[in-house]
Amino acid sequence: MTKILVTGARGQLGGHLLRRAEATGIPARGVGSAELDITDPGAVNEQVEPGSVVINCAAYTAVDAAESDEDTARLIHVSTDYVFAGQGDTPYEVDAPTGPATAYGRTKLAGERAVHAALPSAHVVRTAWVYTGVGSDFVSTMLRLERERDTVDVVDDQVGSPTFAGDLADALLELAGRSDVDAPVLHATNSGRASWFDLARAVFEEAGADPERVRPCTSAQFVRPAPRPAFSVLSGRAWADAGLTPLRPWRDALHAAVREAV
Ligand SMILES: NC(=O)c1ccc[n+]([C@@H]2O[C@H](COP(=O)([O-])OP(=O)(O)OC[C@H]3O[C@@H](n4cnc5c(N)ncnc54)[C@H](OP(=O)(O)O)[C@@H]3O)[C@@H](O)[C@H]2O)c1
Repeated sequence: MTKILVTGARGQLGGHLLRRAEATGIPARGVGSAELDITDPGAVNEQVEPGSVVINCAAYTAVDAAESDEDTARLIHVSTDYVFAGQGDTPYEVDAPTGPATAYGRTKLAGERAVHAALPSAHVVRTAWVYTGVGSDFVSTMLRLERERDTVDVVDDQVGSPTFAGDLADALLELAGRSDVDAPVLHATNSGRASWFDLARAVFEEAGADPERVRPCTSAQFVRPAPRPAFSVLSGRAWADAGLTPLRPWRDALHAAVREAV
């Protein structure tokens, strides 16, 4: 069976990937930045075994990971909705014009381009609004605030597709097992759309709390250094057209994630 190397393995997504691979008997090895700095080409070439699939979950561009010989390894590089301008109201297709509005988005787009320049057969998989339900992500923060506060104000003017890292991990492992997919860019998120306010209310419901304790507010009340996209919904059309399994609706995934997290 194809061996998988997960970089950024101590992150949200990397951690879930390793757990899912182990649970399904897929041989996978994870490395954090201490074991493999992806900006070190020599180290990357040393660690990437011939015939393996690299799933790059490190949160920096994979410019150097792409140095690996095209014939000896395949690369799945995880990217983000932030490569788009974040306006509009129809889901972004994989070939929609990019236009990042933040430094994070610009560097992630540069990473996508560098990956394809070095390794045209690589799959760039864009995702959005990833959570695990543990640690300090949005879902776990809402679970904590539900216990600590009477009410919470959450923005209702930013829309996306909340994506459970466990579901995304399963999706990436499916892609890793398919050598016949010829798609330079794919989008993978749980399906459907929600605002952060909708997601927060759903988390309260999952905790058995009154969702009315979550109150809507606008982004103007929460100004941050990097502007957040108002619209982050990614179309799953290319994913389905490639014969890959569509990810389930975000609400079902949240239910499963909260059960898994407690
Ligand atoms: N979270 C989201 O909502 C979201 C949305 C869209 C796209 N994404 C993308 O999804 C991917 C995974 O994100 P995540 O949420 O799992 O991020 P994360 O939890 O922050 O994990 C990223 C990991 O990258 C590793 N890393 C950073 N610099 C590195 C380097 N030079 N060499 C090797 N590893 C390095 C870190 O490893 P150590 O801990 O070992 O230092 C960290 O654990 C990223 O590409 C991100 O851009 C995330």
